[in-house]
Amino acid sequence: MAAAALADTPTRTDPRLIVPLDFPTVDEAREAIARLGDAVSFYKVGLELLATDGMALARELKRSGKQVFLDWKLHDIPTTVQKAAAALTGAGCDFLTVHGEPQVMAAAVRGRGASSLKILAVTVLTSLADADLEEMGYAETARALVERRIHQAIAAGCDGVVASPHEAALARALGGRDFLVVTPGVRPDWSAKNDQARAATPLDALKAGASHIVCGRPITAANDPHAAALRIVAEMKQAGTSFPA
Ligand code: C5P
Repeated sequence: MAAAALADTPTRTDPRLIVPLDFPTVDEAREAIARLGDAVSFYKVGLELLATDGMALARELKRSGKQVFLDWKLHDIPTTVQKAAAALTGAGCDFLTVHGEPQVMAAAVRGRGASSLKILAVTVLTSLADADLEEMGYAETARALVERRIHQAIAAGCDGVVASPHEAALARALGGRDFLVVTPGVRPDWSAKNDQARAATPLDALKAGASHIVCGRPITAANDPHAAALRIVAEMKQAGTSFPA
């Protein structure tokens, strides 16, 4: 399919569903977006696309009425993070990730200023096990560090965290009702697990306290991505709870 300009489409999806655009080129991402049409209203643009034309695609998505999660995972000295976050407000996107260190989180919150860009902290990368943290000089387990950093994210003024479904209840309990809890590692029970070993279903992630779920390959690699997205949306409706989008 040729990469078409993104059309304005009425939304009949669930704004709690975020689909990551994990593609090597912007043209492939555009094709996926075109196939998903009105079934998806919220997209995540991550490092792979940001390394090429991802910000241009993000602006394009915003112009077409979609919500956009910029998964930059910023991590630098405070001045640089503050300036980068301030610069990123110009794209009018919705979510921005930063690493969950107190200086970094506080700088990003200063940088976004009065804009509506929500700052999400990545507490501890899920690729890091307790032994990796010990090797890096941390005296805490991953779970304890996640809890510490959720507290620090709240103190820094972050709007939420990225958490595994297994940490969603903790993040919800600590952050309260309006805290954003965005969970990747989500798999419907009818789809392949891929490399998500400890996946939860979309419904279970929402019931645990997620405000948003990130679900990629069960949708983007399906024979009919539009139908797969709507099937997940239908399952999500059963959770009944709606946290702020
Ligand atoms: O295709 P899939 O649903 O596994 O995609 C999940 C997305 O969430 C990817 O963009 C991946 O980088 C991201 N992610 C993740 N696990 C984490 C954090 C982020 O899968 N712990």
